[in-house]
Amino acid sequence: MLHQQKKRMNEIGNTDFLPINGTDYIELYVGNCKQAAHYYQSAFGFQPLAYAGLETGLKDRESYVVQQGKIRLVLTSPLHGGTEIGKHIDKHGDGIKVVALWVDDARDAYYETISRGAKPYFEPVEEEDDYGYVVRSGIHTYGDTVHVFVERSKYNGVFLPDFKAWTPAYHPSPVGLKYVDHMVGNVGWNEMNDWVNFYASVMGFSQLVSFDDKDISTEYTALMSKVMSNGNGRIKFPINEPAEGKKKSQVEEYLDFYEGAGVQHLAVATDDIITTVTHLLERGVEFLRVPDSYYEELKGRIGDIDEEIVQLKALGILVDRDDEGYLLQIFSKPVEPRPTMFFEIIQRKGARSFGKGNFKALFEAIEREQELRGTL
Ligand code: FE2
Repeated sequence: MLHQQKKRMNEIGNTDFLPINGTDYIELYVGNCKQAAHYYQSAFGFQPLAYAGLETGLKDRESYVVQQGKIRLVLTSPLHGGTEIGKHIDKHGDGIKVVALWVDDARDAYYETISRGAKPYFEPVEEEDDYGYVVRSGIHTYGDTVHVFVERSKYNGVFLPDFKAWTPAYHPSPVGLKYVDHMVGNVGWNEMNDWVNFYASVMGFSQLVSFDDKDISTEYTALMSKVMSNGNGRIKFPINEPAEGKKKSQVEEYLDFYEGAGVQHLAVATDDIITTVTHLLERGVEFLRVPDSYYEELKGRIGDIDEEIVQLKALGILVDRDDEGYLLQIFSKPVEPRPTMFFEIIQRKGARSFGKGNFKALFEAIEREQELRGTL
């Protein structure tokens, strides 16, 4: 990784102008954050962390923060009509608004990206309480989605200033989710390269892998995807656009229901996918299933793996291999009424790719769901 980073620095002729330590938090605007927080606790094993709302002096919204491993979700709802948050929910349904990135200098991050053409979301602002201060700033990305830069080296509170610890009696056990592996955006027809260029020129990312529509298509539907990654490789953003097929592609279905570009899925890593998925299934998380025939062909396609294929089949876990190793993955059904955002659970055993070999089987599974929805 270090070698890659150096190579990249040589390529661009200077140091990374936007060093990012990792994903800081993901904020979803949802209709009922109190119930959503309960769902992410009970179904996905997130732990209660922080709260902000009427009791902490906020007048217009309420937020619950839940955490598992390094993954922090902020669930936010408006407290009255006519708010920006409410309008976002009305247009898009529940969905990801903020992809916050942890940086050492949020002012620098802002001015470096603005000077390269980013559209401002908010200027750097210092927020403080008894536990220190944070600096945050924000820029727009695809659709109504934004990136917020978070500088928190001078802060040791529970989450951010003006949040208080949230310590309910109810906290079901975690399921082994560790960190955000990657996060996929769906953008409009012929817009993929514009957003690839945005991440390259405005944020200093480089392209990791490229697929074309021949890689990712079935008889009916197709998409194109490119993966953008930051200098140290901790942030990976695949970007999809729909491609022509005989019928409506899943990306197009997403764009219709989300009413624009947005985050399609959040991939969260585990180091024991069998245990994690066993717990998630017990707790009511619904996953896409591929036909049993997938597992009959698996050994021939993948070769030897540590896991028992019969166990993977029972849970519906998929496997793919690249030059560096293999990965195990499974995709949830959308977690809101609209067929929009979903989760991927991923375990990497050497592989650094994204499961290209599973796309066909997976898309056919998605098409069966689209057929049920009458949107194919
Ligand atoms: Fe993924």
